[in-house]
Amino acid sequence: MNIVLGITGGIAAYKAPDLVRRLRERGADVQIVMTASAAEFVTETALQAVSGRPIRSNLWDKEAEAAMSHIELARWADVVLIAPATAEVMARIVSGGAPDLLTTICLATEAPIALAPAMNHVMWSNPATQSNREVLEQRGIHILGPAVGSQACGETGAGRMLDPDTIAATVCGLSVGKGEGALVGKTVVITAGPTREAIDPVRYITNRSSGKMGYAVARAAAAQGAGVILVSGPVNLPEPPGIDVHHVTTAAEMYEEAHRHIDKADIFIATAAVADYRPANVPEQKIKKNSENTSIDLVPCPDILASVSTLEDPPFTVGFAAETENVEQYARSKLEKKKLDMIVANQVGHNRGFDRDDNQLSVLWKNGKKEFAEATKIELARDLVELVAERFYAARGADTQPKLTIISTSD
Ligand code: CTP
Repeated sequence: MNIVLGITGGIAAYKAPDLVRRLRERGADVQIVMTASAAEFVTETALQAVSGRPIRSNLWDKEAEAAMSHIELARWADVVLIAPATAEVMARIVSGGAPDLLTTICLATEAPIALAPAMNHVMWSNPATQSNREVLEQRGIHILGPAVGSQACGETGAGRMLDPDTIAATVCGLSVGKGEGALVGKTVVITAGPTREAIDPVRYITNRSSGKMGYAVARAAAAQGAGVILVSGPVNLPEPPGIDVHHVTTAAEMYEEAHRHIDKADIFIATAAVADYRPANVPEQKIKKNSENTSIDLVPCPDILASVSTLEDPPFTVGFAAETENVEQYARSKLEKKKLDMIVANQVGHNRGFDRDDNQLSVLWKNGKKEFAEATKIELARDLVELVAERFYAARGADTQPKLTIISTSD
């Protein structure tokens, strides 16, 4: 896998040599392209030593361009990763400007682009940066992180670069077919996002799910070598490359689509926030304000998870439980009632869980439990998929178990 690693001028650039190592450990060829300001934080000598390739930094370097032009470099890349990505480079990519080698490659490449933002938390939450993030995501650019925690400036908040190992694992998962990992040869079907149930042709019932957790789980499963089928409700997220994504709108469609693929599934993970009820009758025309009837009759939607776990020969089935209170108690009762192999409980509401980049999880199974402390959904998904793989082989026998790729944060 060929990775163009763009390094821009933030303090987190000091982690770049470690990131290069982590990418190379996963078999990637890394061509570094650094900006002038990145050179203020990390030396070319260190980067050249760890990447084993001459560093590119200047669009007007005739010798380097003769060897491999910026267009060839853009074509060579299977993935363009920018880590750390400053607020400035995000803005420049949004604007389509190409004043330097790195942004020129971003314009010229057809490969997936992933950015790992790193900046002061106030800069990250600034509406300008957030609006740039949204535009980039809408264009299909992957935004990895940032993580929450203490920052180089002495403050605390969202803006730390994700740890290099998590970035490397995610980016390597952006490209398919690397043929190693805990789930090689296995198929994982995942539901994600909310559903929308029509009230009339212009109105619908939905919920606050963003799909971020489900998409992160899909990528993490792909990073462990699984073939991933993602059945997604309406979300505003880029399609993860290498993952077979099927878009649906309603709970009934999600049910149909999930069951269309379930025969192939070794593991089923239901992260979707599926509507429990839908309007019984959907009129052809918009309901008018002067209508006398002010109530909506509801009928239950099919429970996708329960319908899968009670199949004659069900896959290893993992549910999610979004609760606002009594999280563990409710989750355990869902584990038993829906006959699941595992359930992942998280607290939602009051600024937690839905439509956020971070979360904390309790994972429960018969006679077992594991807690995952607050972290980004990308980090949680990685740990969760490792645990799912472990429990899957424990339940189904380890004879077909491939070599486990430990995606840990330590050496
Ligand atoms: N789920 C499903 N189909 C439904 C409802 C829920 O597949 N129609 C799945 C979700 O994807 C999740 C799990 O069931 O994995 C639990 O969803 P949740 O909304 O927490 O619970 P419900 O079973 O809907 O119960 P309640 O709303 O009463 O908490």
